[in-house]
Amino acid sequence: MVNTSVQLSSLHLDNPVIPASGTFGFGYEFAELYDINILGSISLKGTTREPRFGNPTPRIAECTAGLINSVGLQNPGIDQVIEHEIPKLSECYSKPVIANISGFAIDEYVECCAKADKVDKIGMIELNISCPNVHNGGMSFGTSCQSAYDVTKAVREVTKKPLFVKLTPNAPNIAEIAAACEKAGADGISLINTLLGMRIDLRTRKPVIANVKGGFSGPAVFPVALRMVYEVYEAVDIPIMGMGGVSSAADVIEMMLAGASAVQVGAANLKDPYACKNIIEELPKEMEKLGIENLSDIIGGAH
Ligand code: SIN
Repeated sequence: MVNTSVQLSSLHLDNPVIPASGTFGFGYEFAELYDINILGSISLKGTTREPRFGNPTPRIAECTAGLINSVGLQNPGIDQVIEHEIPKLSECYSKPVIANISGFAIDEYVECCAKADKVDKIGMIELNISCPNVHNGGMSFGTSCQSAYDVTKAVREVTKKPLFVKLTPNAPNIAEIAAACEKAGADGISLINTLLGMRIDLRTRKPVIANVKGGFSGPAVFPVALRMVYEVYEAVDIPIMGMGGVSSAADVIEMMLAGASAVQVGAANLKDPYACKNIIEELPKEMEKLGIENLSDIIGGAH
């Protein structure tokens, strides 16, 4: 019997497979399809202080081996998430979850994280400084070392929960941003969020996405994400949650060899709601095939 469990900061996970924020709602929506307790954890829909309707439609553009989204952080706001969404999820999911906190100003991130800190069910905060679909805040915090440092440091002061910072690949040097977050007190790094992209409708000769640009994700970005996880692993001494185009158990193993302690699955959930279940079921077989007994032994093994 192979051992798929991993340690992610203070969280012990049965397996490293976690649905990525924004691709799995608040989790309970999937409980009617299968027993979601098989998941390592769940990263909840990106949450802001105020409720948000999100960007105008169309918000999605299909691409070869991926898609572009410009959802714009649609969510019911932190208070609703704490009062309604998390209790609903707790009815069908027994493990700690990851709160993905987004914002437009440091005080907003701080307020949301302080509220999340008081919720037992939240085992980890994923500070999202990488959303490419909002005009201020979001990704702009993740493209300079100073702003990444400032927001991480401010949030660190209001929570003792494990704090992972989710980074954008649209930064000049993601490894330097990761190091700045570590210096500010982050317990880990999540990467990568989506790559900025666009499509043009040949018939109308106008951008497909109402907001013009959006975040590109899916299997096409996997080699880019892998390269960035590899680089960040060499730049920091804190654990990494790797993501970006992961769609098979083999991808999970490759991501862990690059340096990830756990792996998030994003766009694959939009194509197939059973994607995480299939990957979790495949993982032991893939490990046996590759002669891996303990999954945690391979973290960073490619370095
Ligand atoms: C969105 O809601 O626009 C996507 C969230 C993200 O990319 O962080």
